[in-house]
Amino acid sequence: MKENSLSIEKKSRYLPFGDQQDSLFYGKDILSVKQFNRDDLEYIFGVAHEMREMVQRVGSFDLLKGKILANLFYEPSTRTSSSFTSAMERLGGSLIPINEVHYSSVAEGESLPDTIRTLECYADVIVLRHPEVGASALAAKYAKKPIINAGDGIGEHPTQALLDAFTIYEELGTLDGLTVTLLGDLKYGRTVHSLARLLSLYKVKINYVSPEVLRIPSEILEEIAEKNITQAEFNTLEPAIKETDVLYVTRVQKERFEDLDQYEQVKSAYVITADTLIRAKKKMIIMHPLPRVGEISMEVDNDPRAAYFRQMEYGLYVRMALLAMVLGKS
Ligand code: NCD
Repeated sequence: MKENSLSIEKKSRYLPFGDQQDSLFYGKDILSVKQFNRDDLEYIFGVAHEMREMVQRVGSFDLLKGKILANLFYEPSTRTSSSFTSAMERLGGSLIPINEVHYSSVAEGESLPDTIRTLECYADVIVLRHPEVGASALAAKYAKKPIINAGDGIGEHPTQALLDAFTIYEELGTLDGLTVTLLGDLKYGRTVHSLARLLSLYKVKINYVSPEVLRIPSEILEEIAEKNITQAEFNTLEPAIKETDVLYVTRVQKERFEDLDQYEQVKSAYVITADTLIRAKKKMIIMHPLPRVGEISMEVDNDPRAAYFRQMEYGLYVRMALLAMVLGKS
């Protein structure tokens, strides 16, 4: 990852006079949750909370008027791309949407660095989703403008983890002292890779529930253990459900499997139903980055503990905060 101080120096002259060039995140890339500490999160939550109030009061406002965001998606997306679009437009900025790379020069064999160099001629910030781990870091190496990682293969999804943490904070008032149970595809799910790391900034207990073949990568377990976080792995939810404050459910990532027979064997490993919730705390929240493909039964949607639709909305405010911050307007 690029040195942040270097990136500020390199990038700042590209933004117009009048920006708050001394703000904490001005001109920086958002590549991995590893770049954040607790103070950063508190700051981001504060700005996101203000964004929420502003949206509820006035809908949109002109904080980023004249700024342009390029949304460059090499993988499918509904929530991430449309929430960044909405975030930019609610802040008065505009968009270059490249959601269908098959119709761009990428289809003619253009390299990622060249596509990035092109887009930064026209945009002030680039949001990138790409199937390869490290793609955003590579893009950031070539870019003078900030790159925001919207998912790099099975690597990380830092803005999702930030919105997940913000959801927990807004719903439960704190992250300290909670038991968070991550369930499903912990091997290929980039959202859980980022979220587990981010949670380790707090005094949490983390449970991992997955089939044997989809266990959380050992390097993530080791990284988190170094921070003295209690962690436990299970094959079933049963032993963990009673103590859980946040149940974070994930989709089995079909597109990452080389062997589709293996996918078929594990795809329905867990289904959260109304019955599952009988044993859960009354104040537990159920989260999911979505899309879901059967791992949470629709009968759960009306339970007040189902926070996954509210979670999408929190994502808008966090992404508004991040855009304002990297563009020096927070
Ligand atoms: C996630 C992703 O793309 O990693 N979705 C999202 O961004 N909300 C999770 C998933 O696709 O399962």
